[in-house]
Amino acid sequence: MPAPGSQFDRKSLFQRACRGESTDRAPVWMMRQAGRYLPEYRALRAKHSFLEVCKTPALAVEVSLQPFQALAMDAVIVFSDILVPAEAMGLPIHFGDGGPELPEKIRRREDVARLHDFDPERETRFLPDAIQQLCRALGPEVPVLGFAGAPWTLACYMVDGAGRDGFPETKRMLHAQPEVLRELLRRIAQNTARYLQAQFAAGASAVQLFDTWAGELSRDDYDAFALPALQQLTAALRPGDSPVIYYSKASSHLLESAARSGATVLSVDWRVDMAELRASLLAATGREWPLQGNVDPHALYGSELSIRAAVQAALAQTGGRAHVLNLGHGILPDVPVESARAFIHAGQQRLENAAVGAAERA
Ligand code: CP3
Repeated sequence: MPAPGSQFDRKSLFQRACRGESTDRAPVWMMRQAGRYLPEYRALRAKHSFLEVCKTPALAVEVSLQPFQALAMDAVIVFSDILVPAEAMGLPIHFGDGGPELPEKIRRREDVARLHDFDPERETRFLPDAIQQLCRALGPEVPVLGFAGAPWTLACYMVDGAGRDGFPETKRMLHAQPEVLRELLRRIAQNTARYLQAQFAAGASAVQLFDTWAGELSRDDYDAFALPALQQLTAALRPGDSPVIYYSKASSHLLESAARSGATVLSVDWRVDMAELRASLLAATGREWPLQGNVDPHALYGSELSIRAAVQAALAQTGGRAHVLNLGHGILPDVPVESARAFIHAGQQRLENAAVGAAERA
């Protein structure tokens, strides 16, 4: 089934946009598209715990397909969580109403040394299995996306033990025991590379690295800690033709460094003007960077008309070129399904996008 409003099937549309090749419109999906705003997700979660869904391929596949069946976006991300590898490395995780908790926090060199190097083909087999089953269910024309947390963001949860404002214990480690944090980031990167390789081997068309908490770092600290771990990860991954999308939040001050991470696509939030970013990255790196983003998730609380305007404004920043349309962070759990549909449909309207491109060229 070709993607609505495009001459390309969804997979080639997505891969072309990630490589910066010309497309007749921008592909569109939403971070956290499988989740609580969908009544069918809430119904399934009433019967199964979050981790049970993550670890049971049939359930993970069902939940991953729910948004595609409801909204027909251009990519399907496998259902899982960035904390799954933390558990595989030996840290138990609990998902309660207050978000995830890791009671066995990393605080000292010995805690890092105790971490387990896991074999993703065996110890988190459920994830490549879910990806394989998704690829089979969706056929060759729909891209399936894999993902992992970026080393810094995963380290934040491993050290602070939960989502904490400013991640004070991780920051303390950065300054008081920088070598311990470096070693932790190195171990995460090493394990994450294998974890993502297993996802590509299972059929993922692209993978996304979530660096939700990158914005907590100064540029110097990002360059000294987060960036080398990203570079280690992408070098071990050797993406070749397979796109690696790097998402970071509140990170305007870091994006020129992020362009040295080895990622293929930079995914940014609503604070960033993508036209300005593209111009500054062109000056810094000599090439036009593929970008993903960046509509404020809160824009989906607006009317259908204002959602369409937000989509057009995002597309106008790139002319729809080398652009994967997305939100600037995950979809919020109380957004009406109709508003999510308005976002996807606005993105898939080729004629309007062409009009944006024409207006920009004029
Ligand atoms: O995008 C998708 O649809 C794929 C699934 C996905 C989930 N989490 C499912 C999930 C992805 C890509 C993630 C990434 C993730 N997980 C990130 C990075 C992106 C971001 O949103 O910042 C982070 C920081 C986490 C860690 C995490 N998992 C937190 C902080 C929470 C609690 C907050 C919340 O939204 O409830 C989770 C739980 C979680 N992960 C849920 C879902 C659908 C909600 C769990 C539920 O069903 O009760």
